[in-house]
Amino acid sequence: MPDNIAETLLHWYDRNARDLPWRALPGANATEPYRVWLSEVMLQQTQVATVKPYFEKFTTRWPSFEALAAEDDAEVMSAWAGLGYYARARNMLACARAVAADGLPDTEEGLLKLPGVGGYTAAAVAAIAFGRRAVVVDGNVERVVSRLFAVREALPGAKPRIRELTDSITPDARAGDFAQAMMDLGATVCTARSPRCMLCPLRQDCAAFAAGEPETFPVKTKKAERPQRYGTMFWAERDGRVLLVRRPDSGLLGGMRALPTGPWTDSPPGLADAPFDADWQMLGETVDHGFTHFRLESALAVATIEAQEAATGEWWPVAEIESAGMPTVFAKAAKAIRRAR
Ligand code: ADE
Repeated sequence: MPDNIAETLLHWYDRNARDLPWRALPGANATEPYRVWLSEVMLQQTQVATVKPYFEKFTTRWPSFEALAAEDDAEVMSAWAGLGYYARARNMLACARAVAADGLPDTEEGLLKLPGVGGYTAAAVAAIAFGRRAVVVDGNVERVVSRLFAVREALPGAKPRIRELTDSITPDARAGDFAQAMMDLGATVCTARSPRCMLCPLRQDCAAFAAGEPETFPVKTKKAERPQRYGTMFWAERDGRVLLVRRPDSGLLGGMRALPTGPWTDSPPGLADAPFDADWQMLGETVDHGFTHFRLESALAVATIEAQEAATGEWWPVAEIESAGMPTVFAKAAKAIRRAR
């Protein structure tokens, strides 16, 4: 049966592969390793539709490891703004610099030694860029495999089992196409809700379909509710410019350009945390944003500054705030403030 699954799925992929900018046509020679690596870094935790324009922008501006490696950190971080998980961008840059210096390894073990390259990326690049047999497991693959084999054990505990099962159906040849076929199947047919089993090439092999309950897989342990946190963002404006700061390299949104903020706390804050004294006015609305581990409700404080107060940072033209390269939570705040003012 395992051989059969790979064969059936590759046959389906040859007809149904999504046309994506980082991808070679099925069975064709691989695209440049740089494009495979960059896309896989971007696609971790981020949807294909979101990644596409960023991938185009990055590969146009920086068409090679060397070009990216030579760029200033701040430029790359700004270009990444909106993609989220900003530690990924810092790791990506460290990786590009290591590759520019020492070359790109073409095995999974070699790739794993690069900064910021974890098990998923190493396997995906080895398989897709270099045609190596590697077992590639992302969220889509977890869903497809947990259904194929009706894995009753809950995630995340079931990860080792799902990896073994994926290994058992991964072919020696075309492992990269196989991985991408699993991802496409998960994204377009074997979807989390309302899977389209009638279109699925693996329906006959699928234990969850046979049991009549594909949607119950993958089983997941109930997640703890994300805690609610609170903060304030400060909009200081002077002569059509707003004060922006660069956040410290370590920590959430590290290294990114941003509005000044107070600390994020477990209860709504007061104005005590303003970056400097001014005639701060609270806006009547807040900005809500979901991070991986908590939700943030941020108050918005606004002041018009006369002279250059004790403020350090960049005075950015308000009319060009969208090109500042701020993470989404700050872009939301800027939008709300400009609408309100
Ligand atoms: N998600 C992560 N990598 C992918 C790829 N190469 N194709 C489609 N979806 C993906």
